[in-house]
Amino acid sequence: MAKKPVVFVTRKVPDAVTERLKRDYEPRLNADDHLPGGDEVVAGCAGADALLPCPTDKVTADVINKLPDSVKIIATFSVGYEHIDVNAAKARGIIVTNTPDVLTDATADIAMLLILGAARRASEGERMVRNKTWGAWAPTGMLSVHVTGKRLGIYGMGRIGQALAKRARAFDMQIHYNNRSRLAPELEQGAVFHARAEDMLPHCDFLSLNCPATPETSGFLNAARIAMLPDGAIVVNSARGPIVDDEALIAALKSGKLFAAGLDVYTGEPNINPRYRDLENAFLLPHLGSATTETRNAMGFKALENMDAYFAGKAPPNRVV
Ligand code: DGY
Repeated sequence: MAKKPVVFVTRKVPDAVTERLKRDYEPRLNADDHLPGGDEVVAGCAGADALLPCPTDKVTADVINKLPDSVKIIATFSVGYEHIDVNAAKARGIIVTNTPDVLTDATADIAMLLILGAARRASEGERMVRNKTWGAWAPTGMLSVHVTGKRLGIYGMGRIGQALAKRARAFDMQIHYNNRSRLAPELEQGAVFHARAEDMLPHCDFLSLNCPATPETSGFLNAARIAMLPDGAIVVNSARGPIVDDEALIAALKSGKLFAAGLDVYTGEPNINPRYRDLENAFLLPHLGSATTETRNAMGFKALENMDAYFAGKAPPNRVV
């Protein structure tokens, strides 16, 4: 029987994925799910054929350059791959793959939850119930922002942006979007395309960030662009933290320029800007976008599919470099 490929798996993965890894590979597992540093990743890859990292691992050029020649593929357990220096991998001839599609619905669900939670003051309300500060129902109590029928601007109309638009249409929201290229009419479904994000912002009662993290999108939501939003707008981010300039967003939430924000992702996770925690009008989730059992299993199986293809001498279906 041929020797099974050896895979260093940086984090604890779901049981079903672990079983498949054990069946078809010789996995080096992380039973206590600690966060390995770069040196541990390099040491764990000694004699390995593949690396299966997660978004929490910084697979820098330094780490990649220290990997043994035996490592031929980095199959990340994520759709985002900004934690991997893909140029360094390319330079060493190491294939990098990701897990698109399977987390689209779960992430779009969370984006919709952020819209609803931020608009309807869900975390404030929940705190009132838990802290016993909930008084009698009042005609003017906990007034919030109506979601149905409002304008939603989507910055980044890829798979997740389109899935969010589908959900938002069920709330009769009017969809505006900015994307590198305009979608075909059957995908656009009446959404209004803006070639420049700056032209879309004045039309956004809600703005949802759904673009990948790239040098071009880093710091996109800054003070100047927040100023272009209507007063009382709501911003949600289920993409990546660095797309937002935290200081600018916090200032706008404090001044009342923005009614609220819903955030699932942050710069420096889990050590977020602490000032967010003091803002009543910030609805904060801990990067839950893909966190359903079905989705995490599917992500693991997709990473496996990519490795399966590579070790069978075929092209991995989700190769990014
Ligand atoms: C990804 O896969 O990039 C997601 O952020 C994980 O939730």
